Amino acid sequence: TGSCTSGICYVNGEQGILRYRGYDIEDLVENCDFVEVAYLLIKGELPNTAERRRYAELLNKESLLHHDMQSFFRSYPFKAHPMSVLAAMSVSLSAFYPEMGDIDPELQVDLAVTRLVSKVRTIIAFIYRHMKGEDFVNPSYKYSYCENFLNMMFKSSVIEYQINPLYVKALNQLLILHADHEQNCSTTAVRLIGSSDANLYASVSAGICALWGPKHGGANQAVIEMLELAHEQKWSAQDIVNKAKQKDSGFLLMGFGHRVYKTYDPRAKIAKRLCQEVLAESGETDPLLELAMELEEVAVNDSYFKERSLYPNVDFYTGLIFRRIGIPTNMFTCMFAMGRLPGWIAHWLEWNKDPYGKIGRPRQVYSGPYVRKVQNLNDR
Ligand code: SDX
Repeated sequence: TGSCTSGICYVNGEQGILRYRGYDIEDLVENCDFVEVAYLLIKGELPNTAERRRYAELLNKESLLHHDMQSFFRSYPFKAHPMSVLAAMSVSLSAFYPEMGDIDPELQVDLAVTRLVSKVRTIIAFIYRHMKGEDFVNPSYKYSYCENFLNMMFKSSVIEYQINPLYVKALNQLLILHADHEQNCSTTAVRLIGSSDANLYASVSAGICALWGPKHGGANQAVIEMLELAHEQKWSAQDIVNKAKQKDSGFLLMGFGHRVYKTYDPRAKIAKRLCQEVLAESGETDPLLELAMELEEVAVNDSYFKERSLYPNVDFYTGLIFRRIGIPTNMFTCMFAMGRLPGWIAHWLEWNKDPYGKIGRPRQVYSGPYVRKVQNLNDR
């Protein structure tokens, strides 16, 4: 049954339909940027020109990180998984920006939401700079949301960094594709934590942890690792599919299958097209894209995959695009989190405003012993 009533996202798993607030995902990807879609999810409507400008200004204004927070990054090992740092930094925002308990809750929530959308982008870029042992690059007023992110990630004091407009477009589209997906594992975590009246930053941090797993958002990293391994070992697409069919191998075809979609994930279609566009720009071929497309072809025509309705999901092609933009494999799930943030926030707000407003508290089917008596220690 439905775990809640929600008016944010519609998924039809049989027909492969995905809509945010009634708008089809294809329509949003073609005609909006990520900031507009974030606004739509959080506020319920697409912004008009004045609202769009004000929102972009506010996001820029809130994009800096508190100076004392910057020292945290330096305390993490260079090899720490970026998702562990992201989760910790997200909950740390509640220590540095504790406005949620202040007098005007409505206004303060609005501020916290904007801060989070803006600062998470800065945090992810700072995680990358720390991993590389490089100085942080602060956000700048002159750039859009995605341009700013690319500049904070890749600007160098040695070689001039030119922001590639195709990468800006790709990033906008990828973030939109990830922006919401109704009651998935991480969003459910955010709603559940939020139902205890825990603050937004803490709730989102729980969502980040849930997203990390390879059966959920961590699959984008796992897909590339699988493709790289197969390429190195010279496995054919058929070899990979055969492995995935062996139940005792513990090997799954990553980026395939979905709890709700029993047909092609509409996001995977868009990501595949975008991937081909981005990779075509350089004129070079990518052996991993070729392998991925071959793998898709073999898998969707294989009886094991057909019988179980297993098709490519959102994570199958996105990693190849992130990789081309220059984002390291272990940061792909951070990119998913950056995109999913407006969705988590919208669900947190929806639960928060629900007049029913009860704490989430599933019950269980108990399967342990009914009643027992404690025996003396020597008799046990
Ligand atoms: C995301 O919920 C959301 O909306 C999530 C998400 C979002 O936007 O938030 O869409 C993002 O999490 C996408 C999913 C990313 N994960 C992966 O790509 C990992 C690989 N996929 C699987 O682990 C799996 O398909 C799941 C977890 C995604 C879905 O699992 P289900 O629906 O619970 O299906 P299942 O595990 O019960 O599998 C059904 C059958 C089983 O075989 P049988 O026991 O019936 O013989 O299909 C098999 C499974 O073994 N199967 C696979 C497989 N996925 C399922 N076999 C090989 N390779 C696979 N990928």
